[in-house]
Amino acid sequence: MGCKIIGCGKALPERRVTNDELASLVDTSDEWIVSRTGIRERRIAVGETATDLGVMAARRALGAEEGGWRSDAAEAVDPASIDLIVCMTISGDTVVPSQAAMLKAALGLPSAVAFDLNAACAGCVYGMDVASQMLELSAAEQRAAAAEGRPPRRNPLRRALVVGTERLTRLVDWTDRATCVLFGDGAGAVVLEWREGEPGVLSSFLRNTDDLDGVLAVGNAFDMTTFPFGGPVEAAGAHSAAMARFGDRAVATLGEAPAEGGEGGASPFIVMDGPAVFKFASNAMAEAACAVLERAGLAIDDVKCIVPHQANERIIKYAAKKLGVGLDRFQVSLASVGNTSASSVLMALADAYLAGRIEPGDAVMLVGFGGGLTSGALLYRA
Ligand code: ACO
Repeated sequence: MGCKIIGCGKALPERRVTNDELASLVDTSDEWIVSRTGIRERRIAVGETATDLGVMAARRALGAEEGGWRSDAAEAVDPASIDLIVCMTISGDTVVPSQAAMLKAALGLPSAVAFDLNAACAGCVYGMDVASQMLELSAAEQRAAAAEGRPPRRNPLRRALVVGTERLTRLVDWTDRATCVLFGDGAGAVVLEWREGEPGVLSSFLRNTDDLDGVLAVGNAFDMTTFPFGGPVEAAGAHSAAMARFGDRAVATLGEAPAEGGEGGASPFIVMDGPAVFKFASNAMAEAACAVLERAGLAIDDVKCIVPHQANERIIKYAAKKLGVGLDRFQVSLASVGNTSASSVLMALADAYLAGRIEPGDAVMLVGFGGGLTSGALLYRA
C-alpha cells in the first residue's frame, strides 16, 4: 500500500528495422514474423548506449524532458529527492560500474542508492516489486522510529526511480533466424513515491522455476586471452542445464580456440528453445496473474489494464484466453518494438499512460516472464 507511480517514460533508439529488412539478412519473411509473433519492426541502438536510452526514459519519467507521463504534469521531480535507483538489464554498458550507477551519475541524482537487478525479461516486475517493498519497509521503519522517539536505523527511502534499459541486439546472433527476428532495444522508467495512507501496490507474486531443460541462456563474454592457468572454462557450465544443452553456443569465451571455420572465439548470444519458452510463458503468465488477484482479493474484471511482457502476441492472446478476458484489456505494444527484455513492461506501461488508458483509482496489473526461468506479476492501484 502507499507506493504510487508518479511518472513514467520510455525511450527508443533512432534506427528502425522492418521485417522486410531482416528478410534481406536471414531466410525469413514479414508474413512469418507477423503471424508467429505479431512483431512488424523493432528499433536497434546503433549510436545509442544503454545509458543513453535509460537516461532519456528516466528524464521523461522525472518530467525533466517532454514525452513522458506524470501524475502532476506541472511539476518536475527534483533529482535530489530520488533516494533509490534500481536498474533492470541483461545488456548494460558495463558490468562495473553497474548500469544503475551509470544512470545515477548521468542523471545527477546526488543521494540515490543505485544497484542493478537481473531477472531477464521479468526484470520490470521484479524491479518494481523490490523497489516498492523497500519504500514500504522504509516507511514502516520511519513510523516505528518516530513512535519510539529514536533516529531511523536505515536510509530513509521515499522516492525511487525504476529503470529497464536494454541494448539487447548486441546479444543477438544476426545469422540465427529463430532468434534475431524477436528482439529490439529500448528503455522504460517509472518514478515511485511513498504516500502514507494512499492505496498503491496491492499484491505481488514472484517465482523462479529451475530451467532444468535449459530452454534459454545468454553466455558471458569472458576474455581468456590473458588467463594463464588453463583448464576447461566450460566446467562452470556443468551446473546449468542451458549450458549443457547449448554447449559452446551458451558458454561464450572470447579469445579461446575459434569455432570451426570461424574467425574468432564464440560470442555471447541468446540461445533459446522457442516452443519450450512459449509453453512455459503461456502458463506462467496466467499463474502469476491469478496469484496477484487472489492475494489482493480482486477478480480479473476489477483490473482496468494488464501490461504484459511484450515477447509474442500469441503468448498474450493465450494468457487472455486462460484468464477469460479480451485482448483489449491488455496493453500490446510489441508490433513496433519487439521483445525488449527487462525494458518491455515499463515501455508498454508508458504507452498505456500516454494513451490515457490508466486513470487514478484504476487497478493495473504488470505481468512478465523470462530466462532463469523467472515469472511474476504486480497489481497496483493507480
Ligand atoms: N522465419 C522463417 N522460419 C522460421 C523462423 C523465421 N524467422 N524461425 C524459425 N523458423 C522455422 C523453423 O526453422 C521451423 O522450421 P521447420 O519446421 O522446417 O523445422 C519452423 O519455422 C517452426 O519453428 P518453431 O520454433 O516451432 O516456431 P514457433 O511457431 O514455435 O515460433 C517462436 C517460434 C516465435 C520463437 C515462438 O516459439 C516463441 O515466440 N517462443 C517464445 C520466445 C520468447 O518469448 N522468448 C523470449 C524469452 S524472454 C527472455 O528472457 C529473453
